[in-house]
Amino acid sequence: MEKYLDKTLTIDERTDDLLSRMTIEEKVGQMLQLSYNGLNPLDYARFKKLGIGSFFHALGGEIDDILKKTEKTRLRIPPIFGIDAIHGHALHNGATVFPSQLAMSCSFNRDLIFEMGRATAKEVAADGLDWTFSPVLCIARDLRWGRVNETFGEDSYVVGELGEAIIKGYECDGYIIACAKHYIAYGEATGGRDAYDSPITERKVREVFLEPFRKAVDAGCGSIMTAYGSIDALPLTANKHMLTDILKDELGFEGFVVTDYENVKSLVKKQHVAADIKEASEMTVEAGNDMSMNTHKFYTSVLELVKKGKISEERINDSVRRILRIKFRLGLFDGKERPPKSVISCNEHRALNHEIAQESTVLLKNDGVLPLKQNIKKIAVVGPNADSIRAQYGDWTFFSHPLPSPIAKPKGTYYTVLGGMKKVFGADKIVFEKGCDIFGHGSGIGKAVEAAKNADAVVCVIGDVLHLNGEYRDRANIELTKSQIELVERLAETGKKIIAVLVNGKPLCINLLKEKCAAIIETFNGGDFGGLAAAELIAGEFNPSGKLSISFPQSSSQMPCYYNQFDGWHGGQYVDLKKGNTYTFGDGLSFSEFAYSKLKLSKTTANKNDVIEVSVNVKNKGKMDGKETVMLFVNDVVSSILTPQMELKGFEKVFIRAGETKTVTLQLKISDLAIVKPDCTYEVESGDFEIMVGRNTKENLKAVLKVK
Ligand code: NOJ
Repeated sequence: MEKYLDKTLTIDERTDDLLSRMTIEEKVGQMLQLSYNGLNPLDYARFKKLGIGSFFHALGGEIDDILKKTEKTRLRIPPIFGIDAIHGHALHNGATVFPSQLAMSCSFNRDLIFEMGRATAKEVAADGLDWTFSPVLCIARDLRWGRVNETFGEDSYVVGELGEAIIKGYECDGYIIACAKHYIAYGEATGGRDAYDSPITERKVREVFLEPFRKAVDAGCGSIMTAYGSIDALPLTANKHMLTDILKDELGFEGFVVTDYENVKSLVKKQHVAADIKEASEMTVEAGNDMSMNTHKFYTSVLELVKKGKISEERINDSVRRILRIKFRLGLFDGKERPPKSVISCNEHRALNHEIAQESTVLLKNDGVLPLKQNIKKIAVVGPNADSIRAQYGDWTFFSHPLPSPIAKPKGTYYTVLGGMKKVFGADKIVFEKGCDIFGHGSGIGKAVEAAKNADAVVCVIGDVLHLNGEYRDRANIELTKSQIELVERLAETGKKIIAVLVNGKPLCINLLKEKCAAIIETFNGGDFGGLAAAELIAGEFNPSGKLSISFPQSSSQMPCYYNQFDGWHGGQYVDLKKGNTYTFGDGLSFSEFAYSKLKLSKTTANKNDVIEVSVNVKNKGKMDGKETVMLFVNDVVSSILTPQMELKGFEKVFIRAGETKTVTLQLKISDLAIVKPDCTYEVESGDFEIMVGRNTKENLKAVLKVK
């Protein structure tokens, strides 16, 4: 038996043995990833002979077919099968559709997000796949950007913590690897325009965008995807400093780097930094990418470049070694054991999904109307998103990928808000009138108003639609659409208390709702159970604990509106707007009031390598048990460069019974207080740091920590 097929040897021994047997053609073949559907006859012939590194978006029978053909190749190296299982294995109709990353991040619950990753990995692996192109570790600071929905929000610390949790969940059973993406600063593109240049410096990259990737690397993430865009005019695909010097050498990333879709071709066609694919392929490999997603000519180009001595075989060996190590780690050569297909949307995953949906739902306003009284007889449910599972699922499901399908019907069980309201309150109590579409005129608004007039409670479900979110779907404005504004205004004229439920990909300008509605519930894209969770919240069946991981501006032109901006001279206010956001990072109500007291630091003077404990008492003064996310912010009072007035450095979600007081302790590493200096070195500067612990950015207790 060949050594590389011997399971008793180490991964390194097996990899070295296999590598020593491979021809250069076979090696370069490992660096290519193709879409199975896009195979042309030449690729096909080549793949049947040499094998190939990876396929993406193959499902079911296609995978079996490829595996059979791989068996006939000389070295029988299995491809690694990748898919965008972004919020569940949702390209497979019938699998569990979890809330979007943005929705989930509002749970601030690392454990649930870990479990979500784990459940998704099982469903992905049961379907024959080995790799999810998730999580997105981009930071959403420009709300015009089309992919805000895919992120964990606007804060680097939250993105890093939740990213680490989901990666560990994906990879813990060894079924699949994760892919942290898009490396790096992809969301910071000019004008919020997808895949444009991010006009920032390396210092800024390190200050804001690198930390989540550092955590991903430390968590053992198997792969990282290179962003489409550029930083300060240099495409990431060709950025050796970012990919090799920083990611591989400095952070010590040992997995492999895959480009995003056709990045190689884009160097020629979109970014115009290479004259042809050959030149682009050279740049791509030299920069440190290990696998190219779907530029077919990458293969022949790289082969020629190696043969001509323009790319060294050593460089190729490094990439192939990284890819093979992952294949061995996943057991692809050893008849990998997979979970049974019955895990797909099993009861356990559905229960988990339900719990995540509840914890992700954010109650933004409540004038006391919620929970709804039990003796209510008629509830009008109105609005364009009340019964739209397509809007509720959001991007990256079988509705949108691999190709948009206007006729798809979900095979699994799901609850829209209308479905949830019927289940929770009884169908006989619910009257549904859609009122209007998201776009177009609201010819049904009159009927919705009538329904509202005749009801004891009104639930109005509005938001956005799938085609306002996603790749290349950036928005110039994020105001509510005209028909929805009219719907809300006309409903408000009835004098009834309106409970607004938002089903939307990302923050919208919702001042109107704040003014006119008695309650606002934000669900974002809540997955299978988003609508049920909203209904249960309305009924008071659970105590809401979600908090915003992203801020909502009053107007589209108030952007950026993230909470941790540097102070400037403009005073945080435009002359034609009130001060502040409509809602800010950290906002989110509970049915209980949580009172904070006794903030204590284990040391009030610390050394730069200390870890201190910050504790606080939190009392649940309400009548319902509930969960509370305790947030720890810091302010570096005087620093040699600008620093934000508050920045999150810790959070902990705790369960507190009604009437109970809990002491919550958070660890604070003094090294996490480092700033990135203009020369890109890190330093914790001596002096005072204000420590703020509380519910959100506004309600918190303060103490001062001296760092020597
Ligand atoms: C392009 C997207 O930017 C990326 O997030 C995704 O994983 C790949 N296409 C594969 O579908």
